[in-house]
Amino acid sequence: MTTLGRDGGDATGSDVVLVAIPGDAIADGLAMVSGLRGQITIDASNKFGERPTGFDSVAEQVKSLTGGPTAKAFNTNFAALYDKVDAETVPPGTMFASDPEARDTTEQLIRDAGFDPIHLGDLGQAALLEGLIALTRVLETGDLGPFFYRFNRPGEISAR
Ligand SMILES: NC(=O)c1ccc[n+]([C@@H]2O[C@H](COP(=O)([O-])OP(=O)(O)OC[C@H]3O[C@@H](n4cnc5c(N)ncnc54)[C@H](OP(=O)(O)O)[C@@H]3O)[C@@H](O)[C@H]2O)c1
Repeated sequence: MTTLGRDGGDATGSDVVLVAIPGDAIADGLAMVSGLRGQITIDASNKFGERPTGFDSVAEQVKSLTGGPTAKAFNTNFAALYDKVDAETVPPGTMFASDPEARDTTEQLIRDAGFDPIHLGDLGQAALLEGLIALTRVLETGDLGPFFYRFNRPGEISAR
């Protein structure tokens, strides 16, 4: 894994590119990275306030800059809890939206991180995922604190 910071770098030849920078810094941040064209890209960024000008979502802004298959994932999970995932008795969920060509790679990474992928549909659903930041914030700053979530079919979790 190669990590690039605000000084950018070269992403040529990546299996997948994960974008996790402040939602207001997408254009400037990605302009510092070469080799992005056509790459499978997962956008985990959140943007507070208005949507990016000219786009329904940050993920669609990212796609406009990479031109490759794009997914929105991990933006509803707390980074501070990643090292606690394996201690859960059932895998927590990660909602994601993706272009069809990015779906398998994104699902694999979600599973590799210990989460259960919950596919919402194509990248048009990224706006819905990004809109959850308001709810996430309210829950986090309330009684719950940083949290896991999951959705399951009736009967999938039997222990009480
Ligand atoms: N933290 C979480 O739990 C969490 C969960 C879900 C989604 N997210 C989203 O993921 C993104 C990153 O979150 P984070 O907590 O990791 O934030 P962060 O620590 O502020 O930023 C992470 C990365 O963004 C780069 N960066 C910061 N400001 C930049 C700028 N103005 N231009 C270009 N690059 C910049 C940083 O570069 P340097 O290394 O050079 O400083 C670093 O590589 C945000 O959109 C956040 O909403 C975070």
